[in-house]
Amino acid sequence: MEKLKIAVLASGRGSNFKAVLDNIKQGKLNAEICVVISNKKSAGALEIARENQIPAFFVSAKQLPEQSDFDDRIMEILDETNANFIILAGYLKMIGKEIVRKYKNRILNIHPALLPSFGGKGMYGHFVHEAVLNYGCRVSGVTVHLVDEKYDTGLPIIQRCVPVKDSDTPETLAARVLKEEHKVFTEALRCFAENRIEIDGKKVKIRER
Ligand code: GRF
Repeated sequence: MEKLKIAVLASGRGSNFKAVLDNIKQGKLNAEICVVISNKKSAGALEIARENQIPAFFVSAKQLPEQSDFDDRIMEILDETNANFIILAGYLKMIGKEIVRKYKNRILNIHPALLPSFGGKGMYGHFVHEAVLNYGCRVSGVTVHLVDEKYDTGLPIIQRCVPVKDSDTPETLAARVLKEEHKVFTEALRCFAENRIEIDGKKVKIRER
């Protein structure tokens, strides 16, 4: 299989992107990050990309209010940079249907809880951890999943549990989950890079290394 040429879509600080990038640099993942795209001009992820000489694009939803124009611009950038894989690393906008179709089974999202619990529209960042604590869950975790046309509903690739402590606040839980996120995204990408994933309709099989 072709080497993974990853496009990162991110709206925030970009620590998940940075963790993947560091793992690539350390030889833990055979892949390349070919572009970072953000819908937020001030996203830390764009800054990290620039510091690492990775093409960085801000695509403004204000300037492209029609969803189809916005998606066309993203698609154009993906084509220009020869991306063959996409990761959503804290990307808060719905990704266009055409992109989902073109990159079928080649788009991953990371979610800071164990889906299908605590997912869906509006469930991001501290909202997720607040909801987990309000419910009284004893565990939370991380889900890396394929992206389909809805929020947080694609097939899980890797899920990992993270304990909840009695003393947790949304911030302390978020920090513990984030630590795990930084490992799990690369693990999931490695399954693709090493061609160990078989996706058959509603089932994912992962071969051991
Ligand atoms: C992470 O918690 C991720 O799970 C969620 O958004 C957050 C992004 O953090 N989708 P960062 O921008 O990668 O630091």
